[in-house]
Amino acid sequence: MSHVIGLKCRECGAEYPANIQNTCYECFGPLEVNYDWEYIKEHISREKIEKGPNSIWRYADLLPVEGTDYVDLGAGFNKLHHARNLGKELGLKELYILDESVNPTNSFKDRVTSVAVTKAREFGATAIGCASTGNLASAVAAHGAKAGLPAYIFIPSSIELGKITQMSAYNPNIIAVEGTYDDANRLASEVADMHPDWAFVNITVRPYYTEGSKTLAFETAEQLGWQAPDHFVAPLASGALLCSIKRGYDELAKLGLIDSSNIRVSGAQPLGCSPISCAVREDKEVIPIRELNTIAHSLAIGNPADGYYAKNVILDSGGYAASPTDDEIIDAIFLLARTEGIFTEPAGGTTVAGLKKLVEEGRIDPDERTVVYVTGNGLKAQDTLIQHIKMPQAIKPTFGEFEKQYEQLVVAQ
Ligand SMILES: Cc1ncc(COP(=O)(O)O)c(C=O)c1O
Ligand SMILES: [Zn+2]
Repeated sequence: MSHVIGLKCRECGAEYPANIQNTCYECFGPLEVNYDWEYIKEHISREKIEKGPNSIWRYADLLPVEGTDYVDLGAGFNKLHHARNLGKELGLKELYILDESVNPTNSFKDRVTSVAVTKAREFGATAIGCASTGNLASAVAAHGAKAGLPAYIFIPSSIELGKITQMSAYNPNIIAVEGTYDDANRLASEVADMHPDWAFVNITVRPYYTEGSKTLAFETAEQLGWQAPDHFVAPLASGALLCSIKRGYDELAKLGLIDSSNIRVSGAQPLGCSPISCAVREDKEVIPIRELNTIAHSLAIGNPADGYYAKNVILDSGGYAASPTDDEIIDAIFLLARTEGIFTEPAGGTTVAGLKKLVEEGRIDPDERTVVYVTGNGLKAQDTLIQHIKMPQAIKPTFGEFEKQYEQLVVAQ
C-alpha cells in the first residue's frame, strides 16, 4: 500500500501509473499526482508532522515520494515573520512573510527540486535537467551534485550574472540560449523527448515537481497554529507556484488539519511580463507574449504553462492580481529590507510591490490576515540592484574624518 495511486489528467481524469510522464495521452491535458486520500487520512496527524524533520520532509505523507531516501539539502521549514513594520507602513493589521531567501540555494525552488530529484532517482533517471529563469538552475545543479547525477540546465543567456555564477559553482552542464525562457524551455523539451531516461524537473517530471510548493502552505498553516490566513499573495511566472500553494491549503482542509481553506488568493507579475495578471484584471484568456521587458528576470515567462489554472484559482477565490513597474519593484525591495530586514531579489520586490498596489486598490482588506511569499534572495541580483544604492564614501581612519562624515549622515537622514 502507498499513499500515491499514480497520475491523473487534470482535464479528462484519465489515470496513469506513476511514471516519467507529464501529458495525458487521451486529451494532451497536464497530469497531476493522484493520492489515496483514505490511506493518507489514516496515517497523518498534526502531532506526527510536528515530530518530523525541520524541512519539507516533515510533510512527506503529502508528497509523491516512496521511502525516505530523499535528495535533501534542507529545503524548507523557514520562518514565518510577523511583519509588523511593513504591515504598519501599508495599513495592514496582520501581515506575515514567509522568507524563502534562506533556502539552501536561496529560493523556493529548492522545495520543488528536492521532490523532483528524489523522484528522478527513484525512477532510475541517468541525468536531470530543467529550463530555468535562473533560480531553478541553481537548485537543480545543487541537488544534482548531492544526488551524484549530471545536470543539464537551459537558461536564457540574459539573466543576472550572480545567478550564472552561483549555478556554475555546482558544475552542471549549462546551455545558455539566445532568446527568452520560452525559447530555452522549447529546446529543453525537445532534448527531453530525445533522452527519455533523463528527468527534466519542470518538464517531464512536472506533476511531482509542483507538489513541492504545497509545503509553503503547510508551513504557513503550521506556524499560524494550524490555521489558514484570510488572503495570500504570491509571485507569478508559470503560475505553478500559486496554484500549488492553494492546493496545499485545500489538502490540509480536506484532511481536517485546518478548519477551512476559504482563502483569497492574489498574484503579482511585473508589468513588463504580465500575461496572467492582465488576464485576471481584464477577465479574459491568458494570451502568451513574446516581448519581455522587466528587471524581474526570474518572473519573465511569456507563455505560462499554468497560466490558465492560476487565473481561475485567483478569480474563483475572490482574489486579484497586480502588475507593478520596474521602479515600483525596486522601491519595494528597499521597502522590505528597510522595514523587515529581508533582502529579496526583483521577484520578491514584485510580490511586495503587488501587495502594496492591491492594498491601495482596496483589493486587500486591512483586517485580513495576509501572508506574502517572498521567494528569492537579493544577493543573486546584485548586478540589477547596484545601480540603485548609494556607495559609501571612503574616509581616512581618523576620528576627525568620522565626525565630518557623521555630520553629513545626520543631515541626510
Ligand atoms: C524567485 C522566484 N519566485 C517565483 C517564481 C515563479 O514560479 P512559477 O513559475 O511557479 O510561477 C520563480 C520562477 O522561476 C522564481 O524564480
Ligand atoms: Zn486527459
